[in-house]
Amino acid sequence: MENRIALFFFTLLTFFTPKSLAFDYADALTKSLLYFESQRSGRLPYNQRISWRDHSGLTDGLEQGVDLVGGYYDAGDHVKFGLPMAFTVTMLSWGVLESRQQIAAAGELEHALEAIKWGTDYFIKAHTSPNVLWAEVGDGDTDHYCWQRPEDMTTSRRAYRIDENNPGSDLAGETAAAMAAASMVFKSTNRHYSHLLLHHAQQLFEFGDKYRGKYDSSLGVVKGYYTSVSGFMDELLWGAMWLYRATDNEKYLKYVIENAHGFGGIGWAITEFSWDVKYAGIQIMASKLLGEAKHKQHSQTLLQYRSKAEFYLCSILNKHNSNNTNVVHTPGGLIYIREWNNMQHVSTAAFLLTFYSDFLRESNQNLNCREGTVRHEELLRFAKSQVDYILGSNPMNMSYMVGYGSNYPKRVHHRGASIVSYRENKGFIGCTQGYDNWYGRQDPNPNLLVGALVGGPDFEDKFVDSRENFMQTEACTYNTAPLVGVFAKLLALEEQSQSHDGDDDDQQLVASF
Ligand SMILES: *[C@@H]1O[C@H](CO)[C@@H](O)[C@H](O)[C@H]1NC(C)=O
Ligand SMILES: *[C@@H]1O[C@H](CO)[C@@H](O)[C@H](O)[C@H]1NC(C)=O
Repeated sequence: MENRIALFFFTLLTFFTPKSLAFDYADALTKSLLYFESQRSGRLPYNQRISWRDHSGLTDGLEQGVDLVGGYYDAGDHVKFGLPMAFTVTMLSWGVLESRQQIAAAGELEHALEAIKWGTDYFIKAHTSPNVLWAEVGDGDTDHYCWQRPEDMTTSRRAYRIDENNPGSDLAGETAAAMAAASMVFKSTNRHYSHLLLHHAQQLFEFGDKYRGKYDSSLGVVKGYYTSVSGFMDELLWGAMWLYRATDNEKYLKYVIENAHGFGGIGWAITEFSWDVKYAGIQIMASKLLGEAKHKQHSQTLLQYRSKAEFYLCSILNKHNSNNTNVVHTPGGLIYIREWNNMQHVSTAAFLLTFYSDFLRESNQNLNCREGTVRHEELLRFAKSQVDYILGSNPMNMSYMVGYGSNYPKRVHHRGASIVSYRENKGFIGCTQGYDNWYGRQDPNPNLLVGALVGGPDFEDKFVDSRENFMQTEACTYNTAPLVGVFAKLLALEEQSQSHDGDDDDQQLVASF
């Protein structure tokens, strides 16, 4: 034990050399949470900090006779897409569950809870009866035809739902996961709300499980924007896993075990974790269950889950998985999955690596890859390298988090940020007028989309800061969400390594790990 701790501190000291201290994780954490305020739809509260935004979407759902005011715009447009919104809230909640103390120590817990609640308040509204969940407001086709501020929106705000005749197990499963995870977040501060979220989560999971189908088969309108390519089985396993964590009810664990094979949980080895594909997240959560005595009877299946988790982690680390394949790294060292919005995969990988590293350290285990044994420090070091790349340690010397440092994307593909603030100029800006007068400008955006993580560079670390280049310059809520918990963790480790410097026997510090 003693040696392990000493070694851990030695590693910390080598992580946070003066050079790497250039990154201010506290600032990055604060900014990451501000981003969610820019993406708010609905009536903005008195304490709204992003002052270039104003109320919008105040009649959402009215046509259908339901109150769907609130929630988040997913990216640079104004559609409220349920699936990525739910994944965003799941990842924010997971981050708070893993890093709550560190986020609180940085003074950001209130903001993190607000970011989650802005999503869950909307999910409560959208889940109007046990087997009805409103899935989307607005549609990509008409929305993308316009370049307008959200405050001026003239596009269709029609709402779309899933129900018994139009099933959507993927959407129901992910929303169940989000609400179950959030229910744990609010357990200690808002018992009633926590209870309410859990109740919705359980109903949604039952609905998704009983009426099975892909939501994009029921709702053509999401196709081409957020098609559920991996189907719904991953979200059902994911929803069950989160409900098990939130309730400790055996029936959800049994679901994860009994459907492990049939739903691809232990068959589908995959190297991406995203709003669409949840397998790696499930596999990593299942690996953690292995350590508890009460799960011994399921160890055979849990071990199979773990072997797939290791497949993901080893290939991300370039240590070779069982099929001897690796994920591409750019010359600058960034994980590269694909051209369009690659950063979403970087931030989710940084999240899973950080928390798997914690798990390995706490359980005194290593990761076994084809290329050999990998220690927990190495997972953390690699996660940190990805975060540092995001913040500016890259060949372009560019922070891909908007507003961090001095060199960051200035022409983010984002309607609201690229047009004069509604608070400054309330003159109506029409659908094509926005394209003519604002979209095509060479000037930087007038409003700062602070904390947004853009799509990022290509496979050669090259990045072109232009509004037309939406593959690289659009930001999404689910890009930034996983980073909240990771920034807090890195910040705490950095502070601990600094205060440990020159104070070798600080037992209190060690105990706080
Ligand atoms: C590994 O490779 C084999 C043979 O090409 C293939 O059938 C199998 O699906 C691969 N497994 C994974 C986990 O990718
Ligand atoms: C990035 O910074 C390094 C070190 O200061 C410098 O050598 C390099 O030319 C810079 N690259 C770009 C694209 O500005």
